[in-house]
Amino acid sequence: MLIDGHGRVVNYLRVSVTERCNFRCQYCMPEKPFSWVPKENLLSFEELFLFIKVAIDEGVNKIRITGGEPLLREDLDSFIKIIHDYKPDIDLALTTNGYLLPETAQRLKDAGLKRLNISLDTLKPETAHKIAQKDVLNKVLKGIDKALEVGLGVKINMVPLKGINDIEILDVMHYCMDRNIKIRFIEYMENRHASDAIKGMHGKEILEKVKEGHTIKALGREGASPSFNYKIENGYEFGLIDPHKHDFCESCNRIRLTAEGNLIPCLYFDEALSIAKAVKEGDIKGASEVLATVLRDKPKENRWSMDNLDEEDISARAFYETGG
Ligand code: GTP
Ligand code: 5AD
Ligand code: SF4
Repeated sequence: MLIDGHGRVVNYLRVSVTERCNFRCQYCMPEKPFSWVPKENLLSFEELFLFIKVAIDEGVNKIRITGGEPLLREDLDSFIKIIHDYKPDIDLALTTNGYLLPETAQRLKDAGLKRLNISLDTLKPETAHKIAQKDVLNKVLKGIDKALEVGLGVKINMVPLKGINDIEILDVMHYCMDRNIKIRFIEYMENRHASDAIKGMHGKEILEKVKEGHTIKALGREGASPSFNYKIENGYEFGLIDPHKHDFCESCNRIRLTAEGNLIPCLYFDEALSIAKAVKEGDIKGASEVLATVLRDKPKENRWSMDNLDEEDISARAFYETGG
């Protein structure tokens, strides 16, 4: 079992397989970054798997593939199959913008993927274009349909932004309710890479919008998840991810691995250690030692709060690097 320096059991590994993305979301990567990680610095699937195997052997039982946009990485289904074949009962999931799902969902399912979290911020083509800076909606909606059709578990993530998609909170929720899929509203998280022009909504404001159409009952947090769940009058459940709160840090169960091998103990904490050298040399003991150090030093809570946010508290690390 993996236990960190604060006594928390860590059983969840998020693996970002690329920083690249085919969207330019205003809240994440409005401009193409000045430089990408050079291709030669990316760990191969074999190298990533060497670390993943260490993590699984030591107690990780939930793995989420993230990006950038993970479906841009060639042969991703072969990577998923390697993980699945090693431990078929692992909770194996992927977070995606959905654009490439019409052509990949079946292969992902066949490789052993269980679940997808898909971003859907709007049901209006022009608003989707405004947020992602590309005409994306039609393919994303087709991607969601395809994922459901092939039998993958689906959850939707929506980031409500003032004056952009805030009026669609109920519409997107109803779209999910009609398909019996869960929506989680995510509070916008400040970061130095996002567009200056956007303003996120507080969790409270998001709930007020939902209350315009429904009565809601708070259910609570589901295990170590950052999502706080609510139920409406007909039994439909939705979630709110309020990363400005620290209360889920207490039960944080996750670490993150980037595509070039940095092992990150917390989303909002700049420190990280690299496992690249160890895995390139096939050094399992070395990889395991880096993992132990990162766990020992995992911070107690993330480093910022909305009311008192100084420039230096805003993480310099991009979401497209950590995978959210
Ligand atoms: P499930 O396994 O379906 O519960 O997924 P998840 O919520 O772990 O995954 P997803 O990739 O959909 O993450 C949703 C969002 O939750 C992320 O984009 C972040 O906004 C937020 N989040 C996830 N982990 C953390 C964390 O450790 N700290 C903070 N502050 N926010 C987090
Ligand atoms: N604030 C909140 N959520 C974000 N995401 C990406 N950038 C941000 C941000 N700055 C979301 C995406 C995706 C999830 C993994 O992270 O919409 O659903
Ligand atoms: Fe790409 Fe996701 Fe970032 Fe949008 S939020 S630019 S889809 S990585």
